Amino acid sequence: MEPENEWAARAAELLPTGASTGSKRPEALYGTSEPSGPTHFVHASGCRIATTDGRELVDCTMALGAVAIGYGEPKITRAVLDTVAQGTVSGLSHVLEVEVAERFCNVVPCAERVQFLKTGAEAMSAAVRIARTYTGRDVVIGSGYFGWHDWCSVQPGVPGNVKRDYRPVPFNDIPALENAARDAGDQLAAIAIEPVIECMASPEWIARARALCDASGAALIFDEMKTGFRLATGGYQQVSGVTPDLAAFGKALANGFPLAAVCGRAELMDCLKRTWISSTLASEGSALAAAMGVLDWHENVEVSDELARIGGEMRKLVSGALKASGLAGISMHGIDPMWFMKFESPEAEQRFVSLAAEHGALFKRGAYNFAALSHDEDALVDIEAAASNAFVAMRQEQEDE
Ligand SMILES: Cc1ncc(COP(=O)(O)O)c(C=O)c1O
Repeated sequence: MEPENEWAARAAELLPTGASTGSKRPEALYGTSEPSGPTHFVHASGCRIATTDGRELVDCTMALGAVAIGYGEPKITRAVLDTVAQGTVSGLSHVLEVEVAERFCNVVPCAERVQFLKTGAEAMSAAVRIARTYTGRDVVIGSGYFGWHDWCSVQPGVPGNVKRDYRPVPFNDIPALENAARDAGDQLAAIAIEPVIECMASPEWIARARALCDASGAALIFDEMKTGFRLATGGYQQVSGVTPDLAAFGKALANGFPLAAVCGRAELMDCLKRTWISSTLASEGSALAAAMGVLDWHENVEVSDELARIGGEMRKLVSGALKASGLAGISMHGIDPMWFMKFESPEAEQRFVSLAAEHGALFKRGAYNFAALSHDEDALVDIEAAASNAFVAMRQEQEDE
C-alpha cells in the first residue's frame, strides 16, 4: 500500500466517514471509498499543498472556498500568531470582536448588527432562528445548501415535524417560489437563498423573493458563505443591489480560520436579546485576527476583481486544454471566481481528478474550483499542464479501449 493510502486507511479505522468534512471524504474527493489520489496534506502555502507522500499539488479547491487570499499568508499568519501569543480567550470578550464588528458592518450592505459564530451552518441556523423569533412563525422556504443543521435537512435523524417546516424550492424558479409562499400563507417566517448556484440568481427571481417577503412580513435571508468576500467584499447583496433582512457569512471572511457571522437589520437582529444564540468560543481572537487581516486586504486591494480575473484565466486555460484534447461529455459551468466542470460520466470525472492529481493539481469533484489571490502565473501554468495531461491521457485511454 502506498504511504498516501495508509493515511486514508488509518482515518477509516476511527473516522466513520473517513473525514470530518464531507467534501474531504475519499468518495467526495475521488468518487470511490478506495482513494485514487492523495487524501491528506502536511503543509499548505499560497495555493500549493504538500501531500503525505511528498507530492506538491496546486490546489484549485482552496479549502472549499474558505481561503481566498492564500494558505499561510504571511501578514495574516503574523496577525494571528501575535494574537495567539497574547491569549485568545478569557472570561471577557476580546476587543477584536468589537473591531471586526465595526469594520464588517461598514462593508456589508445589510449589516446594521452582527453576531459572530464559528461555522456557516451555525450562522444560517442563527439567521433562521432570528427570523422565526421576529415573525413568530415557523415555515422557511429555502433554495441552496445551508449546512447540516436540522432546520434545512432531510437526512435521517431529523424529526418529521422539523422537516415539515422547511420547504425547498428550485433555484431561479419563480412559480415554485410563489407556490411555496402561497402554501406557507401566514406561517411564512423566511425565504433563505443561496444567491449563486452554478450561475447568478436571476434578478427577477430575487426581486420576487424580496417582494414576497415584503408583502408577507417574512425575512429575506441571503446565504453569502461562498459569495461573501469573493464576488464583492459585501457579497452578492453588494453586486445585486438587493438588500436582504438577514445574511450569513463565513469561509473567505477569515481566510481559513474558523469564523462565521450572522448579520442584518437592527430590528431583526435585536431578537437576539429575546432568543438564545451563543457559543463558548464564538469570539476567540485567532479567527477574528485573521478576519482583520482579510478586511485590511479588501481595503487595500480590489480582491474581488482579482479573484474574477484569476478564476476567469484558470477556467479559460482548463477549457482550452479540454478542447485541445478533443474529449466529449465534459462542460464548464459557474462564474469566474467559482467555476466547475460537469462530466456526463461519473467514471470520467473520477479518472480526471485522480489523473490531474497525479499531474500536480487538485480539482474538486462535483463542486466548485475557487480562485485565490495566491494562484499566480506559475500556478496557472501548472494547473493548465495538469488538466491537459489528464485530458490527453483520458483521450488516449478511450482510443485504446
Ligand atoms: C452556501 C453555504 N452555506 C452554508 C454552508 C455550511 O458552512 P459550514 O460548512 O461552515 O458549516 C456552506 C458550506 O459549504 C455553504 O456553501
